[in-house]
Amino acid sequence: MNERSKLTDATPIRTLPDSQAVTEVQHYTDRLFRFRVTRPASLRFRSGEFVMIGLMGDPDPKTGRQKPLLRAYSIASPSWDEELEFYSIKVADGPLTSKLQHIKPGDPLILRPKPVGTLVHDALLPGKRLWFFATGTGIAPFASLLRDPQTFDDYDQIILTHTCRDVAELTYGREVVESLRSDEMMRELLGDAIEKLVYYPTTTREQSPKMGRITTLLEDGTVFRDLGIDCISAQTDRAMVCGSIGLNLDIKRILEGFGLREGANSEPAEYVVEKAFVG
Ligand code: A2P
Repeated sequence: MNERSKLTDATPIRTLPDSQAVTEVQHYTDRLFRFRVTRPASLRFRSGEFVMIGLMGDPDPKTGRQKPLLRAYSIASPSWDEELEFYSIKVADGPLTSKLQHIKPGDPLILRPKPVGTLVHDALLPGKRLWFFATGTGIAPFASLLRDPQTFDDYDQIILTHTCRDVAELTYGREVVESLRSDEMMRELLGDAIEKLVYYPTTTREQSPKMGRITTLLEDGTVFRDLGIDCISAQTDRAMVCGSIGLNLDIKRILEGFGLREGANSEPAEYVVEKAFVG
């Protein structure tokens, strides 16, 4: 499955409060899709932040009134992009994603323009090597950060790890990484700095060149051997983590075992965590 639809000038646009219009939808698998929406002119955000987005819920059976159904979604597009991109799971009985998976170009989407989040450069102390640890749709904030030249200015090496169940679920991340080299705008912004990026995708349920959870591959030293690099240390390494609750907890434990401390906007340190938002 790889269906893609785009907004054309002929597509009518309906409006809601805080409403933006869907401009493009691409389905990767029966569990994953990406979509783009118009960006409010006043919206400024830092790469890695999230916003609340959603749709109107079903009418209340008694009053007939509809309430917005909102969830936190990491912005996957870079801050210089004129549209906003989101990457989402589809959950058959998820209150929002059961509806969201059917959006089409031209449809309205509610977007509260108040970006927040901890996966931002400001929450980390300066370092030499930056790790992005993602599972599933947790790659979304890193898709934004990877297209932000500051990421490449601030570090000597950037390592993106992405663990998914199967190969098809890696497609979005792989395409973002490939676009850093093929997209004219990205080539202009990054130049040779793109060579600082190391992409380390792994699968857990389907055969691929690198199998296993990233947590296991860190704990048994496989990642360091594969990449020919030193172990993680608090002096040189910084990390951002975004995935399932299990991944977030396990990576926290591993990073703290290497001596890294959790940071926040108000108190930068060596690593930061955000949970991947699904629903
Ligand atoms: P696994 O297949 O072993 O559960 P999901 O699709 O359920 O969100 O999972 C995405 C990926 O994250 C899967 O490859 C899954 O591996 C992996 N994963 C789930 N929990 C953890 C964890 N605690 N540490 C590392 N990887 C995890």
